[in-house]
Parts: sequence; structure tokens; C-alpha cells
Amino acid sequence: MERRIRIKNYLLPAVLMTCLALLSSCEKYSWAKPEVPQDLVVSYSGDIFSFCQSCHGAWSEDRTYDKLSANVDTVTPASSRVLSIHSSITAFGSQMIQVDTLLLPAPDVIKIWASQGAGKD
Ligand code: HEC
Repeated sequence: MERRIRIKNYLLPAVLMTCLALLSSCEKYSWAKPEVPQDLVVSYSGDIFSFCQSCHGAWSEDRTYDKLSANVDTVTPASSRVLSIHSSITAFGSQMIQVDTLLLPAPDVIKIWASQGAGKD
């Protein structure tokens, strides 16, 4: 009995430390945002359109472009209306878009695209 208690006293902190170590290492990898390279090019037709289409399936590529370009601010991308229109739609902000080899949050991709001039390519 005496012995059991002593083992527990050693084991518990060890287990706790392991758990903490695991948790914090997890955090490091899954929460880090990939760094966006300066020369990453975002394409409307190749990267963004299919994302819009997943919800606005009835809009053609042209129509979606018109709606999107009318609602982005190429000077201050973060103030783009397309972001505020969808601010209450969680699935908009939480979706990721693959650009090149990077997986980025959809709002970030749209902001990068706006900052690059919001072209139709
Ligand atoms: C997760 C689903 C979802 C995605 C993805 C999405 N939207 Fe929306 N969008 C909505 C919903 C829901 C509304 C609100 C509909 C309403 O009540 O008018 C909306 C409204 C809009 C509106 C305003 C209403 C209108 O008809 O003009 C525009 C513009 C718009 N979206 C453009 C876009 C564009 C461009 C994209 C791609 C960058 C996009 N949306 C991606 C769900 C989505």
C-alpha cells in the first residue's frame, strides 16, 4: 500500500509533464500560419472562383467575378465589403483555399488577391 502511493507520487507529475509537452508541441505545429511568400500569385479563376461557387453555385464565373470585384477594396483589402457581407457566416471565414503549395484561410487569399489588383485571371 505504502509503495503504491509512492509510485503514484512519481507517476502523476511525469504523466502530466508528458501531456503538457505533447500539447504544447501540437500547438506549435497546427496553429502556426504558413508564411506567405511575397511573390505568391493568387488567381481568381484558379483559386477563388471554386470557393465562391461552393455556396453560390448558381452564379457563373463572370457573374461571380463581377460581384466579387465590386466588393473588394484593392487599396485597403481588409476593408473589403465581401468580408463584412459574410462576417456572420462561419463557414466563409474558416474555409481554407489551396494556393500553390500553401493552404491559407479564404479571407486571407481574397485579401492577397485584392492587393494584387483583383484581376480576372
Ligand atoms: C460558406 C458559404 C459562402 C461562401 C464560400 C461565399 N458566400 Fe457569398 N454569401 C453567402 C451567404 C449565405 C450570403 C447571404 C445571402 C443573402 O442573404 O443575401 C452571401 C452573400 C453574398 C453577397 C451579397 C448578396 C448578393 O447576392 O449580392 C455577395 C456579393 C457574395 N456573397 C459574394 C461572394 C463571393 C464573391 C464569394 C467568393 C469569394 C462568396 N460570396 C463566397 C455564403 C457564401
